[in-house]
Amino acid sequence: MKILVTGKDGQLGRAFQKEFQRLFQNKHSKVDIRYIGRQDCNLADLSALENILHEFQPSLIINAAAYTAVDKAEQEHDLAFTINAVVPEFLAKYAVTHNASLMHYSTDYVFDGEGSDFYSEDRAVRPLGVYGKSKAKGECLIVDAFSQSNNADTRYAIFRTSWVYGEGGNFIRTILRLAKDRSELKVIADQFGVPTSADWLAALSADFLFGLSADSQILLRDFPSGIYHAVPAGETTWHGLACEAVKIARESGLSLATEVADIKAIPATEYSLPAPRPMNSRMSTQKLQKTLKDLGAVSKFPVWNELVRDYVSELVKKQLN
Ligand SMILES: NC(=O)c1ccc[n+]([C@@H]2O[C@H](COP(=O)([O-])OP(=O)(O)OC[C@H]3O[C@@H](n4cnc5c(N)ncnc54)[C@H](OP(=O)(O)O)[C@@H]3O)[C@@H](O)[C@H]2O)c1
Repeated sequence: MKILVTGKDGQLGRAFQKEFQRLFQNKHSKVDIRYIGRQDCNLADLSALENILHEFQPSLIINAAAYTAVDKAEQEHDLAFTINAVVPEFLAKYAVTHNASLMHYSTDYVFDGEGSDFYSEDRAVRPLGVYGKSKAKGECLIVDAFSQSNNADTRYAIFRTSWVYGEGGNFIRTILRLAKDRSELKVIADQFGVPTSADWLAALSADFLFGLSADSQILLRDFPSGIYHAVPAGETTWHGLACEAVKIARESGLSLATEVADIKAIPATEYSLPAPRPMNSRMSTQKLQKTLKDLGAVSKFPVWNELVRDYVSELVKKQLN
């Protein structure tokens, strides 16, 4: 099996490198993995990407790359669409013509965020900003490319996730940085969603993708193609997440000027940003949980704050050492 992972320096790409190091070490599986980042290939240059595909001939592509600058996307429409829609379509077309499979990631921002229920995968998309529109287009182009193929050996999965944190810039790191010397923080308390650990998402994806053969070889599962929601259990707001991060950091021994009580809840209308965000990013994971069970996978969906605890205490440990 040859696996190509794009976006190697992003949060999810780094999490995949750790996960695959763990998964494939000591296994006698014939797995060849290539991780590519911006320095290996600017994805906006499709001919460079084509060269890599042609030369490496992957049987599985994990597209962890994306244009994720939500606010900047409002000004960089074309680049956002190239990376988030044209590139995924290109990868999908490669997959269907080369007996390969594609694992891709999308976002809660494909929804308009109306209502307060948990969105299922078949809910109509209505993105509010350019980033969400570009990701929704990418989903659509992948589904179209695979729907035109009769090849049962090629499959795709699109995992929609939300509020990702891992190795890289993210909301939790920003809050902890600000909390170091500010006596008060104001954080949005009326946008609801689920923080997702990049490490957990990579492990969940690997569990979805790979099973063991009778002689303990790691094999690609016959997973059903489709869109899935992939987030931990529970729900919170940005304010809830900030409070949890500061609480855990203080308990772990980090010296912060901000106490939990100093984190003030504000409405989104008081914190204006260039791109509109959904007020409700809750997504139901029932479809993915059932599919994992049917595949014989063992992944759990822990409550979001258990994973935040692991992440923040590890961050603090690294900072204190
Ligand atoms: N982050 C979130 O909160 C969030 C929420 C919902 C869904 N998602 C989705 O989850 C997936 C993983 O997100 P993430 O948080 O890991 O994103 P990330 O940390 O921003 O990583 C994205 C990676 O893509 C690379 N990339 C972007 N444009 C490129 C180009 N032109 N050529 C080559 N590489 C390029 C970036 O390279 P550089 O490092 O060089 O910039 C970066 O390493 C994405 O599909 C994203 O849309 C993320």
